[in-house]
Amino acid sequence: MNPPITLKQFQQEHGEWMTNHMAETVSGLSMPGVLKEAMVYSLQAGGKRIRPILLLAVIKAFDHNTMLGLNTAAALEMIHTYSLIHDDLPSMDDDDLRRGKPTNHKIYGEAVAILAGDGLLTYSFQLIAEDDGLPSDIKVKLIALLAKCAGPEGMVGGQVADIEGENKQLTVQELENVHVHKTGKLLTFSVLAGGIISGASQKELELLERFSHHIGLAFQIQDDILDIEGLEEMIGKPVGSDESKHKSTYPSLLTMKGAKDKLQYHLDEALTALDKLPVNTSLLAEIAQLIVTRNH
Ligand code: IPE
Ligand code: IPE
Ligand code: MG
Ligand code: MG
Ligand code: MG
Repeated sequence: MNPPITLKQFQQEHGEWMTNHMAETVSGLSMPGVLKEAMVYSLQAGGKRIRPILLLAVIKAFDHNTMLGLNTAAALEMIHTYSLIHDDLPSMDDDDLRRGKPTNHKIYGEAVAILAGDGLLTYSFQLIAEDDGLPSDIKVKLIALLAKCAGPEGMVGGQVADIEGENKQLTVQELENVHVHKTGKLLTFSVLAGGIISGASQKELELLERFSHHIGLAFQIQDDILDIEGLEEMIGKPVGSDESKHKSTYPSLLTMKGAKDKLQYHLDEALTALDKLPVNTSLLAEIAQLIVTRNH
């Protein structure tokens, strides 16, 4: 029997796979040269690939072929990348550095950056729809769920709530609602998509969703912490971006200690949900740990 794969090996193998697959599919499309360059620039700029890794790790947990999730995982990472291009625009967070490189609009200008984001968003749905490896009913489920998690009821709605919260003192409840939408919903898609592709039962999908809720919150709490305590050369984006925009964050509402306590609480809840799943969840537990201990 093969020894169990470590998270590091899994990440390395599948992260590279993902990066090559995204570059290859986009490079094969017919479009204006500058648009392709701008889309590939952000896709190739690095990034932890945590969302696709999570999706593929769920498939692995259910002992299914991770290859089946390749296009869906690439589509998800493209939507995430688009959300970052737009998030950095002058009209949004106005940041100059992302993944250790100049932001997309700094290189290509705002108009092309907006359109590169639009291109990644729309192409992601085409990629799932044209996936030959999945049955149509599964693809329709994935497309509907991705639209819900990324759109007005998900990430896009959360981004607007985040902007509306600037220069205001939100309650912890309101802040949690921002985090659930702007960051949590795409992580929920990662986890549920892996379950849907693996044919998980309704009960298993409920547990996966509970797990994803807690890692989603933990992910954004750690992002808020790193915005204060992180090192620019590690996080690849400016430190202090939230404070300069007077954003409500967990550390700003609860103090740094309070934010770290919340982080631990969500990790514990995530692991409790995992324990109830009747599959091999060791990689998923490692990913949850990584989310709360990451320094980038
Ligand atoms: C950053 O996401 C944006 C948030 C939702 C907090 P990541 O920290 O996953 O960014 P990359 O993909 O590794 O650059
Ligand atoms: C935005 O959160 C997450 C997205 C939906 C893009 P942040 O604005 O905190 O993300 P960073 O810190 O710029 O990566
Ligand atoms: Mg933002
Ligand atoms: Mg930002
Ligand atoms: Mg942030």
